[in-house]
Amino acid sequence: MNYYIFTFGCQMNVSDSLWLDQALQALGLKPCSREEEADIFLINTCSVREKPEQKIYSLLGRLYEYTREKPHVFAGVGGCVAQQVGRRFLERFSFVRLVFGTDGLVMVPEAIKRLLKDRHLKTSLLDFQDHYPERKGYQPEKAPVQAFVNIMQGCDNFCAYCIVPYTRGRQKSRSSREILQECAGLVARGCREITLLGQNVNSFGQDKEGRDIPFSELLRSVAALPGLERLRFTTSHPKDIDEEVIQAFGELPALCPHLHLPLQSGSDQVLSSMGRKYNSDDYLRIVEKLRSSCPDISLTTDLIVGFPGETDADFEDTMDIVKKVGFDSSFSFKYSDRPGVRAADMQPKIDDETKTERLARLQQLQSELTRDRLAGRVGRQELVLVEGRSKKQGPPDTVSWTGRDPGGRLVHVHLPVERDCTGEVLRVTIVRAHKHSLSGEVI
Ligand code: 5AD
Ligand code: SF4
Repeated sequence: MNYYIFTFGCQMNVSDSLWLDQALQALGLKPCSREEEADIFLINTCSVREKPEQKIYSLLGRLYEYTREKPHVFAGVGGCVAQQVGRRFLERFSFVRLVFGTDGLVMVPEAIKRLLKDRHLKTSLLDFQDHYPERKGYQPEKAPVQAFVNIMQGCDNFCAYCIVPYTRGRQKSRSSREILQECAGLVARGCREITLLGQNVNSFGQDKEGRDIPFSELLRSVAALPGLERLRFTTSHPKDIDEEVIQAFGELPALCPHLHLPLQSGSDQVLSSMGRKYNSDDYLRIVEKLRSSCPDISLTTDLIVGFPGETDADFEDTMDIVKKVGFDSSFSFKYSDRPGVRAADMQPKIDDETKTERLARLQQLQSELTRDRLAGRVGRQELVLVEGRSKKQGPPDTVSWTGRDPGGRLVHVHLPVERDCTGEVLRVTIVRAHKHSLSGEVI
């Protein structure tokens, strides 16, 4: 039996899909690289904005056509859209025989075994658990060079625009002991870079259901693992990032000088209606402290334009703070109404034309900032952890590799000889800046 996994959305979903992939292989099922070869489709969905949600329906429509010719083929729909739509997927699409939420993921391998035995069965795994549902580790002999480690699930913040607390439930931290064990195991099996993942990692260990060590302490323990080259984490909330974590950037050699710190808006009025619990000055103060702890830190962010009630002046405040901070890069989105969230009832809504215009201006500004920030890297010596061959290859008789510098910037390196450099750390001089990446030459 072959399976094919589609993954939409954030790194949490990517990491959930990776786990599922390993768990299904442990059951004896085979991953396939072409959709036409699949007997089982698994779709890990995202509902953070309307667009990714629409993609699921067009995909299901396409798969429906496909399964009409191959009636034994079935699909499981998981992740954030599944958590919301639930059993209605089972009713609406005959070939969907499994729906699972984020806490239900751990039970998917068992459910698939049952579905393969009983062709008439349909099943749903949608309940939330009180505690972090620990997943059985399936550990290939050699760990990937870069790995994600989940440290928590869910979120308690209820920002007015955000669907995550409804789709991923309340914040549940995984035990620090389990996290450290997993990280140590990964490093022992060859992993060189770990990214700690959670919806709001800075409030790790501070759950309503109980307490664990604070996030800064977890960072220190993971960073101390001998053999770990690079440590990253995402995502942070500005209201929860504390002094100890800021200091850690200056003190822990393994902690990469990069922080993704979602700002969302530069207007205090909008930040307050979003329920973000910080204002633009608070954010600027954090940036100042981060830069004094780690002057070379690369800062990236998320921004929303056209939140209900956002005036031209509010938007200009966002433009101003983006310039002031000088983000290395940012993701920006048009506000999109999500069912059941507080902002869905907020007025006035901003028309799509205005949102499009604001987004274009913001993205133009970011392109200029990114270009300047990248140009500032030329001439520097950096350590680049190679992730694989570049999509675009250079002159004949050379091979182009793509990796990242400690700040997370993409760096392309041409080498004259054919040897697999994946996972190697190359010492390079940055020689050119492009629109979104850099080129380096091995020293
Ligand atoms: N509309 C637009 N963008 C949103 N995001 C989250 N919810 C919405 C929404 N309803 C953005 C935020 C968040 C990122 C993952 O997606 O910027 O940080
Ligand atoms: Fe999308 Fe958020 Fe769910 Fe991630 S947690 S898949 S971004 S809705």
